[in-house]
Amino acid sequence: MNTLYLVEGKDNQPTYGFGLECSSELAAREDAPKLFEEVSSLELIPESFFFGKRADFIRAVGKSQIPIIGHTVELSIGADEPLDRRHLDQTKEVLDQVNCVLFSDHLCMTRASGIEIGQLTTLPFTKSVVDVVCRKVEQIQKEIPQPFMIENITNRFLWPQNELEETEFINAVTRKAGCGLLLDVTNLYINSINHKFNPFRWLDRIHASSVMGIHLAGGIKEKGVLYDTHSRCVPKPVWDLLAYVMTKSQPQVIIIEWDQDMPSTDRLIQEARYGEKFIASLPRKNPRSRVPKYMPALATEASL
Ligand SMILES: [Fe+2]
Repeated sequence: MNTLYLVEGKDNQPTYGFGLECSSELAAREDAPKLFEEVSSLELIPESFFFGKRADFIRAVGKSQIPIIGHTVELSIGADEPLDRRHLDQTKEVLDQVNCVLFSDHLCMTRASGIEIGQLTTLPFTKSVVDVVCRKVEQIQKEIPQPFMIENITNRFLWPQNELEETEFINAVTRKAGCGLLLDVTNLYINSINHKFNPFRWLDRIHASSVMGIHLAGGIKEKGVLYDTHSRCVPKPVWDLLAYVMTKSQPQVIIIEWDQDMPSTDRLIQEARYGEKFIASLPRKNPRSRVPKYMPALATEASL
């Protein structure tokens, strides 16, 4: 395990603080450079900046030296086929220009037999797929030196051939591959509602020391099903789960993902500030004490 897992930032904050996803739409805004001063870290999706796209913005990010979490969406880590060489090279080209401190992708597949699936697709939770993922992570870590995190996704369905629980699958990957977990708390919450399980018990079964980063987002409900649309503020039950995570784990960074129906840049910054205050409000002396009283929810718009 990387010893950085145990580094705790000032005032009980994660090392790289509370950051924001910087989508291509946000990067294109005139006031985007204010993010370099106003938030602790940014998450960049390298695919949005491939082939020199928004090169000026990437140069400005590099100059600012703001800590960057690289977060690819299409490495297709769970597919039993070689990593796409060109994709990896383009990813490296983007990340080499900025102060990248952590790197991540999803525990899923996006491509099979050379065909793009078009979405993050759930993997069969089997031992042989654990081995596939670990081989890919090993290759990625040889090429991209920053500590690597794998993210849990929303599961639209579960494979009938599953041999392991999702938590066992994730634990096996992080332990065998020696990588961290980018725990998407919203994805967990959504899965718990859609598949009817207790998310707190799910968290109890995850290796607490593997939680290296956190994602938070807001989604929507349609015909009784929750979707991770990144289009709303973080809902109250997700803050509740985050508080519980923080009684067990010391993530290095917490990122808010909001890339659809985005509000103003100032409003996004406000959401990150709220998160910082929320974390600072958590009990410090006895980190294993129970979840604190809620701070009032920041936003009033409907969310999940
Ligand atoms: Fe996420």
